[in-house]
Amino acid sequence: MRTVMIFDTTLRDGEQSPGVNLSTQEKVEIAIQLEKLGVNVIEAGFAASSKGDLNAVKEVAQVVKNASVCSLSRAVKRDIDLAKEALQAAESPYLHLFLATSPIHREYKLQMSKEQVKTRIREAITYAKKYFSQIEFSAEDAGRTEIDFLCEVVDTAISAGATVINLPDTVGYLTPQEYAKMFREVINRVPRADQVRLSAHCHDDLGMAVANSLAAIEAGVSQVECTINGIGERAGNAALEEIAMAVKTREAYYQVQTTLNLKEIHRTSRMVSKLTGMPVPGNKAVVGTNAFAHESGIHQDGMLKHRETYEIMTPESVGLNESRLVLGKHSGRHAFKTKMVELGFELKEEQVNPLFERFKEFADRKKEITDDDLIALVEEKLVHAQDFYVMESLQVTCGNQSLPTASIKIKRESDGKTFFEAACGNGSVDAIFKAIDRVAQEKVSLEDYRIHSVTQGKDALGEVSVQLRQGELYVRGRGVSTDVLEASARAYLDAINRLIRRKGDYPAEKKAVTTV
Ligand code: KIV
Ligand code: ZN
Repeated sequence: MRTVMIFDTTLRDGEQSPGVNLSTQEKVEIAIQLEKLGVNVIEAGFAASSKGDLNAVKEVAQVVKNASVCSLSRAVKRDIDLAKEALQAAESPYLHLFLATSPIHREYKLQMSKEQVKTRIREAITYAKKYFSQIEFSAEDAGRTEIDFLCEVVDTAISAGATVINLPDTVGYLTPQEYAKMFREVINRVPRADQVRLSAHCHDDLGMAVANSLAAIEAGVSQVECTINGIGERAGNAALEEIAMAVKTREAYYQVQTTLNLKEIHRTSRMVSKLTGMPVPGNKAVVGTNAFAHESGIHQDGMLKHRETYEIMTPESVGLNESRLVLGKHSGRHAFKTKMVELGFELKEEQVNPLFERFKEFADRKKEITDDDLIALVEEKLVHAQDFYVMESLQVTCGNQSLPTASIKIKRESDGKTFFEAACGNGSVDAIFKAIDRVAQEKVSLEDYRIHSVTQGKDALGEVSVQLRQGELYVRGRGVSTDVLEASARAYLDAINRLIRRKGDYPAEKKAVTTV
């Protein structure tokens, strides 16, 4: 059976989703999880696009050992040099060069002739070849490129030394039949097309990204480029989990395999959703909360009699287990640590205590602590690892006859100074946010506020996600608690902390704080 390589671009194309902005620390956390998932290539960013991206690619390159780490690069020397610098520490560095080839891009964006495009591709790959053995060339907007010219471009790139050729449907325009035909023509017409890895990269503007990627696999490509939860530019990219489960569930049809550890799908999806602040729709294939829920009586009856009547894959196969009762307030540090390992968190000794303390706080308030609760707690702590402001206490008074009022005590970690503030608002959440604003003195607007429960039951953990805006800068924050008002305060303060970090006001000594 052929192996199809999985090129994950969650941290590059996925991060290009409107409103998403991952910190270096978050990118590293996701990259470690992608490595556990078993992807073959992790596109960690676009080193030349900003200092932040350069740094993120560097840090990912340092930690990932079992996947190639890739940086995107325009077909220019400066970008290639920066990608080289960023990937210096990578065990398996991978350069992703791109240049648009379609008539509309050549004429309006690049203002280059066909010959100039080919020359640029040849020169860039020849230059990159001095530093990289793995070079992918992407013909941006290949889907709308004249097929004769596309074959010339592919031939040029292979002759110059590209080892992977990617033909993206950049604007999500093609149908599966058209996309497959394009690859078949290239395979038939370009003499050495069988000596490189052909790659598919699809966008979801017409909802066909996954279907197009699968059609490309049928046409013979040996790599697909995708993102977790299908996040990405505009309508997004092809969803990794959907491609993975399609080829697994229909293995006899596709006759291909991947190197993925499918049981890590759910955890990866959840982490990406949390850290990007992009919720997964309930009806999303494979990872949506309804993906394995059976509502109608007839379906439930069928499921009870024989699971396969209505289920073509099991929730367990993607790592979605029943939320079991695991720990309670009498559980000790040892049991907690063991459970963390079981859940896949490799904690350093110094990280156990603060997490255990937070767990104990919860255990006092919530009788039954499930796996999902624990994951939410650890992920929150992980995200809040570099706090500038820390909430020490919160008090809220409200009622239908009184003005909601919040009093808050916040510590500034850099100098230990404590602030007390109080504010009234239109509602309790508004009052809390106003009180925090008085402490932080940041002019922000609240762009988004979401709340959902992590598990079921009256004492379920509430998870709040907010998005704040300051000028052009958007930041997200998250908070969890059994009390939704406290969760709201934690989420808002988290967003303020991120804003401060993003603006670079954070004291240097605090940047070294380790993460889970
Ligand atoms: O969609 C696209 O064409 C891209 C390229 C940079 C590969 O993301
Ligand atoms: Zn793309």
